[in-house]
Amino acid sequence: MKRIARITLLLLLAAGLWLALKPTLGNRRLTFLPLHLSEYIDYMDFWLNLTSFAILGATVWLAFGALENVLRRLCLMLGFITLLNLLLEVMQTSIPGRAMDQADVWAGLLGCALGLASGLALQLFSVRKKSRGTVPQVLFLDQTGRLGGAELMLLDIAAARAADSEVALFQDGEFRTALEDAGVKTRVFKLGEEAATVDKQAGLGSILGSIPAILDLILQIAQAARAFDVVYANTAKALIIGGPAARLAGRQLIFHLHDIIADGHFSKLNQQALVLCANCCARSVIANSESTKAAFIASGGRAELCVVIPNGFQIPAERTSKAEMQALRASLGIQPDAWTVLMAGRLSHWKGQHVLIEALKHVPGAHAVLLGDALFTDEDRLYAQQLHALAEEPGLAGRIHFAGFQTETLAYFDLADSVVHASVFPEPFGRVIVEGMLAGKPVIAARAGGAAEIVQHGETGLLVAPGDAPELAAALLRLQSDAAFAASIARQAQQSARDIYALPAVQEKIEAVIRQIAGRKPTPAPEAAASTPVQLAA
Ligand code: UDP
Ligand code: GLC
Repeated sequence: MKRIARITLLLLLAAGLWLALKPTLGNRRLTFLPLHLSEYIDYMDFWLNLTSFAILGATVWLAFGALENVLRRLCLMLGFITLLNLLLEVMQTSIPGRAMDQADVWAGLLGCALGLASGLALQLFSVRKKSRGTVPQVLFLDQTGRLGGAELMLLDIAAARAADSEVALFQDGEFRTALEDAGVKTRVFKLGEEAATVDKQAGLGSILGSIPAILDLILQIAQAARAFDVVYANTAKALIIGGPAARLAGRQLIFHLHDIIADGHFSKLNQQALVLCANCCARSVIANSESTKAAFIASGGRAELCVVIPNGFQIPAERTSKAEMQALRASLGIQPDAWTVLMAGRLSHWKGQHVLIEALKHVPGAHAVLLGDALFTDEDRLYAQQLHALAEEPGLAGRIHFAGFQTETLAYFDLADSVVHASVFPEPFGRVIVEGMLAGKPVIAARAGGAAEIVQHGETGLLVAPGDAPELAAALLRLQSDAAFAASIARQAQQSARDIYALPAVQEKIEAVIRQIAGRKPTPAPEAAASTPVQLAA
């Protein structure tokens, strides 16, 4: 049936093209020689039709399979073409010796109105046709196959509604395995090599070079999105692809914003592209903190789109046993009683591992475990090498322990006496801070962004100035020397984290946004599905 519709459409388009060409075949209007202005307008009229039909044909053929979508776009585009024709007719009146052709004008007006009205009617018809009353079907998009914080959050969200979701990744990797292990259907749509290397700081050159691959991916995602009610873009690149794709497919888009859109995190061009795309394409923007929301609005984002929902976390039923902890310490080369700091997170300059290493020079005898690896860029890999060199400096040798990336992180938090976060740029949210609090450890975090929202200084942790190694050292010495204070802030932090960041409540808030955007009643998703925790394979 679909095939017959496609062939019929192709024949119709071919006939249209032939009709547009027919009066001019063998005619001198086919030449590119300079012409008198009035003839030039005729000439443009013809080429305009030709180009419009070509674009129309290509768009219809490449992007859409279902007749309903084909017809809807066809009507809108015919209306648009007719409007352009009408403008050309009006322009002709300004040329001496030429008059407006009344019949053409009426045909233009009528065609335009008809095209728009039919497009609108089909749009309404297709909205009514969607499966109302059931759980909205969601296509999640994420740019990476690695396991960063944004991906760990998505893993929990998608796993809780696995039966009604699918995840499309632009890169393969351990994230796909984790999703599949959690029962989430996952597909990898590979972004071309050129586009895959465009990062948050990319300039115009590399962005332009990646356009063909990006267009190709947009069309593929548009086609996939037609089977869902909502497209949910989980990261910045996912928005750039998912925004236009959702529009083409006529589906609603939610953008989960995990980044602070500001200098230091994104180039100016990328900031503008992101905000424009979110403003034009998203029906809702879920910001992971108030700071993330404020930065989005400050860069021109529409405030009315935003809702703040923090990350959610499973509260582990049991923590690591003393024996396991000691075994882990021994495997890292740390004495059982050595005062130890954990810093978890990918190795990247803005995450500030160098600040902790510098601070440790002023905290004699203290050890640091750096959990994580360089995940995303060559710059990060170079930074990781520099950290290894730093760790060998006099006074530090044997005190900095690189644990690499681990999927099971609980025991690393448990073995620590304190957990440090030291990002030099504002942290959008900072999962590792909450994980430290949930582990019942005294946390020190950099006073900026989401970190400063999570930690109340002196009550649920300590805040220090970002990038300030001496202040971090002073905070570490305070925790080391005042065990009662350290235990008291750790206790309060654990309670506060359990109250605010428990996964089921956060999942419910996200599900409410999905339901609202999909036009469903705001009844919560089934209890069992909403609270199913995700276990990562070791
Ligand atoms: N993480 C992990 N294994 C590691 C290091 C980190 O699973 O070896 C996790 C960490 O527990 C946290 C996430 O990666 O949940 C990092 O998230 P965060 O929000 O702190 O920073 P991001 O890297 O997303 O900017
Ligand atoms: C991003 C942010 C991080 C946040 C995570 C989850 O990776 O860099 O701060 O915690 O997303 O929202």
